[in-house]
Amino acid sequence: MLGRLNHVAIAVPDLGKAAALYRDTLGATVSAPQALPEHGVTVVFVELGNTKVELLEPLGEASPIAAFLARNADGGMHHLCYEVDDIMAARDRLKAVGARVLGDGEPKIGAHGKPVLFLHPKDFAGTLVELEQV
Ligand code: CO
Repeated sequence: MLGRLNHVAIAVPDLGKAAALYRDTLGATVSAPQALPEHGVTVVFVELGNTKVELLEPLGEASPIAAFLARNADGGMHHLCYEVDDIMAARDRLKAVGARVLGDGEPKIGAHGKPVLFLHPKDFAGTLVELEQV
């Protein structure tokens, strides 16, 4: 069911600072910031040869990463995103074995313009998992 690791997401309190860290200190290629109001975040992508790092900063009042940053003031690893061929088939298979899909269980369009779903960290070894259909 799982394909490539699409990205590792890191929640940060200051996106400009984190982007500069990856661009200037680590010498990576970093995208321009992209606001995603429907997800409550602004994102920057760090392009790597084999995958990406997604830097996330809260956007708006009810950002889903606000509570995470309240517990992790310096930022930290927030989720892993795996690619799947068929997100509805993946969702149905996981629900059938009792895994919890977050939200209303319907895929949303993610930062890459593709359908995504999030899975409960308590069901996946303590890690928030994003599935993206590619
Ligand atoms: Co993500």
